[in-house]
Amino acid sequence: MKKMITDFDLNGKKVIIRCDFNVPLKDGVIDDDTRIKASLKTINYAISSNAKVILLSHLGRIKSEEDKKKNTLLPVAKRLSELLDRKVLFVNETRGSVLEESINKMNDKDVILLENTRYEDYPLKKESNCDIELSKYWASLGDIFINDAFGSCHRSCASIVGIAKYLPSGIGFLIEKEIKMLGATLNDPKRPYVVIMGGAKMNDKIKVIDKLIKKCDYLLLGGGIANTFLTAIGYDLKSSIYDSESIEHAKNLMSKYKNKIVLPVDGYASNEYADNLEVKYYDLKNVFNDEMILDIGPKTIELFKKYINKSKTVFLNGPVGVSEFKNFEYGTKSLLDILKNSGASVIVGGGDSASAAIRFGYKDSFLHISTGGGASLEYIEGKVLPGIDAIENK
Ligand code: 3PG
Repeated sequence: MKKMITDFDLNGKKVIIRCDFNVPLKDGVIDDDTRIKASLKTINYAISSNAKVILLSHLGRIKSEEDKKKNTLLPVAKRLSELLDRKVLFVNETRGSVLEESINKMNDKDVILLENTRYEDYPLKKESNCDIELSKYWASLGDIFINDAFGSCHRSCASIVGIAKYLPSGIGFLIEKEIKMLGATLNDPKRPYVVIMGGAKMNDKIKVIDKLIKKCDYLLLGGGIANTFLTAIGYDLKSSIYDSESIEHAKNLMSKYKNKIVLPVDGYASNEYADNLEVKYYDLKNVFNDEMILDIGPKTIELFKKYINKSKTVFLNGPVGVSEFKNFEYGTKSLLDILKNSGASVIVGGGDSASAAIRFGYKDSFLHISTGGGASLEYIEGKVLPGIDAIENK
């Protein structure tokens, strides 16, 4: 049993809370604030316990100075301040004298948000490689460390695993809830148990299929991961994205589990990754032009529906098309509707699928909408998540 935020006396203490504010941004504007809202319970608890609240999060992936400009946490600080109805001081650095002075000046109940922890990734990957010096530095800023970033618990980075080594540590209410909901439904699922996987992080996802496929009865694939499997069995999807490094792996999985893995049969395509061009419909065996498939089609929906309607438990992880584009929202939207009416216990996991479910009006239609994508997949696969493992036991 892990220590909880409620196991500590927070009064007057500097409490570092790691949140997952990795929210979708469109031109610097927050497209979906679900993850920020999901963090409020823990942050509010710390404020009402008279703590000095120091918040950390990553946003996006930082591989250049240009990425830094696009992924500042400033919009998150503004939104958080509205939601908490109190000032959130944004310090636009991840270390240094301004940050240290700001923390030294904090009163009880003050809230500070540091700049994106992954700024430390360029150029030296210090955050993602769990650099010891960085972990110790961040730990030196507080008295207690609370991890509430469920969506990032599968990452062994400095702000998740590193700090926990050097401070008394516990988990927040969001992690507590996620573990409870995912564990209760998916550890021993009512069968048939169907997993639907889509989304863009193909390399991460294909790695978890090995174990997941043994747990579920059927695995329905969409998005880039489906393209990888289709390419592996000989389809030519022209410019569609797929993970070339995972082709051999996908081939092996297809030969071993061809009765369990269900692939799309049709889809909608465009010339480019864009929402304003002509949309073409294809049988996936015959993608004639040099186009990219960006959504699944109606025959695939019918096929998936057959599996969903006989299932008792469903886990949806990742949209099956580019659901943020109007032209390619059809597949994800239709699937959500089928899931809503299926009578199965449905858990939706992942930043993008959660956003889609909320945007399309399915916020209250499912048993649970998880804030974790890769983290929820690895959790239900049975892996010990490093971010949770690093926290002290009771
Ligand atoms: C997520 O969105 O799944 C988490 O915030 C982790 O992000 P990452 O895949 O960039 O590490």
